[in-house]
Amino acid sequence: MAFKVCIISCGMIANEAHIPAYQQFSEDYEIVAVSDINEMAARDTAERHGILHYYTDAEKMLTEQKPDVVSVCVPNAFHKEYTIMALRHGANVLCEKPLAFCHSDAVEMFDCAKQAGKVLMACQSMRFTPDRLAAKKFIDEGGMDEIYYGELSRIRRRGIPTWGTFHMKKISCGGAFVDIGVHMLDALVWLMGNPAVSAVSGTIMQNHKNELGSLKGSGALTGKVHNKRTFDPDEMDVEDFSCGTITFETGAKVSFKVAWAANIPEASDIMLVSKKAGLDLPSGRILFDERGERLLEMKNCPYDTPYFGHMYLTDNLRKVLKGEANPIVMPEETINVSKIIEMFYLSARLGREVSAAEIG
Ligand SMILES: NC(=O)c1ccc[n+]([C@@H]2O[C@H](COP(=O)([O-])OP(=O)(O)OC[C@H]3O[C@@H](n4cnc5c(N)ncnc54)[C@H](O)[C@@H]3O)[C@@H](O)[C@H]2O)c1
Repeated sequence: MAFKVCIISCGMIANEAHIPAYQQFSEDYEIVAVSDINEMAARDTAERHGILHYYTDAEKMLTEQKPDVVSVCVPNAFHKEYTIMALRHGANVLCEKPLAFCHSDAVEMFDCAKQAGKVLMACQSMRFTPDRLAAKKFIDEGGMDEIYYGELSRIRRRGIPTWGTFHMKKISCGGAFVDIGVHMLDALVWLMGNPAVSAVSGTIMQNHKNELGSLKGSGALTGKVHNKRTFDPDEMDVEDFSCGTITFETGAKVSFKVAWAANIPEASDIMLVSKKAGLDLPSGRILFDERGERLLEMKNCPYDTPYFGHMYLTDNLRKVLKGEANPIVMPEETINVSKIIEMFYLSARLGREVSAAEIG
C-alpha cells in the first residue's frame, strides 16, 4: 500500500519540486491533500495535480487525513512550527531548507522526531549534482586525507528571489547566505565527513535590491511560480551578499562568498584541499602532487528535471520507510549546518568571530 502524503503550503517549491517528486514514485506515494493559508493557492494546486482534498488549516488536514509523510514547504520562519506539528500527528517529514536557523531549534526538531519514532529530513536537494556525488565517492574511498582548506563560492549576477517573501527577515530569517548558501554549507559538511564547527566569522551586505533578474536566474528553476506576491524593494531587509570563514575542530579553514547579486562571474563552486589530493567542483578536476591531475568519474543524473534533488530525496525516503536504506541527509549534518548559520549571523551582527562555545 502506498504511503499517504500531505503537502503543507502550495507555493513554488511545492508545485514544481515536491509534488512532481512524489508523483514520480506513484507506486509508493499517494498525495491525499494539500494545504495553504491562501485558499486559492491550495485549491489551484489540488486541481493542477489531480489531488482530491485541499485545506486552509494544516492541522485539520493532518487530523483528518492521517498522512504517513508530510512535506513542509512553508517560508523559513514557519519550518519548525509545522514540522513539529506534523511529527506530533505521527507523520515522517521532509522539511524544506534551511531546516532551522539556530542550533537549539534543529536539536528540538530532531528530538521531537526521535520521540515520535519518525524520520525528519532536511531537503538539501543540491547534494545530488553529478560532480558532488562523484566527489563524495572519491573522498569516501580514501581519495583525500584530512581536508585542511576549502573555498565555497555561490554567486548569482542578478538573482534576488522576487516571487515570495525571501527578502523579508521576519519571514525568511536571512537572505542569500541562508537561502542559497545553506546548500553550499550542507554539501561542504557532507563532503568533509561532518567535522564539528569551532568558529565562524561573517559579514553581510545589501547592494543591489533595485536590480532584479529573471525568475529562473533567481531560483525558480522551471521559470514557473505560483501564488506570486508583488516584490517591493523597500521591504527588503536581508543581505544580498555575504562572505566569511568557517573553522572546524579538525583545524580546517573554509572561506566562502554567497551572493544573490554581484558583479562577478556566476558560481556554484567548491574547492577542497588535503595533502593527498585537491578537488575542484563542478569541473571535477582532482589535483595530485607529481602524479598530475585527472577527472572525477561523474554519472549522468537519472532525472530530467531542474529539481532532480527532490527526486533523490523522495526516492530515499520511501526506501528508509521500508527499512531498505538510511536517510541520505543525516540529522547530525543538519544540526551542524544550523549551528554554522546561527554563528554566521551572530558574527555579522557583532562584527567579530564567534566561537562554538558561545552558542547555547
Ligand atoms: N530546496 C530548494 O532548492 C528550494 C528552492 C526554493 C525554495 N525552497 C524553500 O521552500 C520554501 C518555500 O519556498 P517557495 O519558493 O515555495 O515560496 P513561495 O513564496 O512560492 O510559497 C510560499 C507559500 O507559503 C504559504 N504560506 C505563507 N505563510 C504560511 C503559513 N504561516 N502557513 C502556511 N502557509 C504559508 C504562502 O501562501 C505561499 O503559498 C522556503 O523555505 C524555501 O527556502 C527550497
